[in-house]
Amino acid sequence: MRVTGTGHASMRIDTAAGSILCDPWVNPAYFASWFPFPDNSQLDWETLGQTDYLYVSHLHRDHFDADHLKRFVSKKATVLLPAYPTSELEDELRELGFTSFVETRTNEVVELDGGLRVMIQALTSPTDGPIGDSSLWVEYDGVRLLNQNDARPTDLSTFTDLGHVHAHMLQFSGAIWYPMVYELPQAAKTAFGKQKRERQFDRTWRYIDDLKASYVFPIAGPPCFLDDELWQFNDIFGDEGNIFPDQSVFLREYAKVGGSNGVVLLPGSVSELTTESCTTTHPTDVDEFFANKVAHLEEMRERKRPVIEAAKASWRHPEVDVLKEMKRVIEPLLDESIYLAKGVGGPVRFDLVGYDGESVESIVVDFPGKQVRPYGDEKVRYRFRTDRALIEQLLHVGEVDWVNSLFLSCRFSAARIGQYNEFVYAFFKCLSEERLQYAEGWYDEHFQNADSEDVRIGDWVVQRRCPHLKADLTRFGIIDGNQLTCQLHGWRFDLASGRCLTSVGHQIRAAKAPARAN
Ligand code: FES
Repeated sequence: MRVTGTGHASMRIDTAAGSILCDPWVNPAYFASWFPFPDNSQLDWETLGQTDYLYVSHLHRDHFDADHLKRFVSKKATVLLPAYPTSELEDELRELGFTSFVETRTNEVVELDGGLRVMIQALTSPTDGPIGDSSLWVEYDGVRLLNQNDARPTDLSTFTDLGHVHAHMLQFSGAIWYPMVYELPQAAKTAFGKQKRERQFDRTWRYIDDLKASYVFPIAGPPCFLDDELWQFNDIFGDEGNIFPDQSVFLREYAKVGGSNGVVLLPGSVSELTTESCTTTHPTDVDEFFANKVAHLEEMRERKRPVIEAAKASWRHPEVDVLKEMKRVIEPLLDESIYLAKGVGGPVRFDLVGYDGESVESIVVDFPGKQVRPYGDEKVRYRFRTDRALIEQLLHVGEVDWVNSLFLSCRFSAARIGQYNEFVYAFFKCLSEERLQYAEGWYDEHFQNADSEDVRIGDWVVQRRCPHLKADLTRFGIIDGNQLTCQLHGWRFDLASGRCLTSVGHQIRAAKAPARAN
């Protein structure tokens, strides 16, 4: 088995039974703030893109690069699709021209042609990825590889059960905005950053120890930040609170805990893997490359400057009435939200800095009051300060995931009262009916009420959440005789038998309601 490093979380796996291209990412992501490090734009993508299989682990934009997929990856490639609760990933890929899909089931091995075996484990809580994150296990001719990328399974036993793994690829660096964007004294920021950096490494050591693979490949980060405004986030200033350590730091830290089987892949590095060995060749000397990291970044910054400038010029949409649009998009979702709104439990304030860099419009998303309105001088749970142009762009394109766009861009500052609140970010990841309903249903099932509640609709008592994607049937369920239709996607159920009339499986729990007393 041959593995070619293609940058960040991306790699190409070649076997005699076919090739798999994973997560090819080249264009900047998140408001042109993240770029792949080291630079991979000079690779021969025309050739790399001629692949038999494509695997996109999830919809984060540093894994799913629509422009790149469209331009360089063969549409004859068969997509290995994780089993996600929504069809967004498949829809986006179809939109780009892919037509052949292997719909995997979580934790089930799929036998492909020629003896190639794969298994994808999809994680589906609203806090994983946008709506999901996944890992790919591959086996060919006795050699096994786990591309865990960003995924954080509770343990790796599903993979160890399939036999010894030879190559383990996993994330080790930061991929978040904490603590850099928080308005905190520098000393506190450094202390929190240091803790975070240590925790990231501890988690990585735990996974490595769980799997005990022959070789460990640090992948999926760090990105680099080439805009002057974000340059300080690169780990080049000797700051112990920086959460973006690179692969050379990984090797150093790994050695401290006794690790000696780490393999760094630069873009263009090639590892030949057998059950006994791993031989890697690099396009340049690895130590020398990392010793010259600053020069590499500076050169890249100059080259990418026009890309960043062009992106910035496209964000302003003065015609967008931000308050009115936020009301239109967010208020209906607040209305429907039970768990997320309760979880946030207070108002969240957005301070939007105008084009002049000084004027500020303050808007509050009032979760208890289920309203979006001008700020009224009250205490808020979270406060975000960002350029108005960014919010205009989000509203202009109808972005349903502000986490996977605004927040990951790090182009904002934040303050909060109390602890981190996952519900704030879960909500801003779910600015569509489909996503919100899924997240609400997920929390309903997992945290509040394992058996899920039953509700009365007309003459029937049915489970509250749709067996498809957990829509609230008190809102979306319409009963006509013995048939219930969930209006979110139009699935139909025969209530007498509980059978789903639209898809195999997906039984609904239903019973005739007792007659009402007059
Ligand atoms: S959630 Fe899709 S049909 Fe009900």
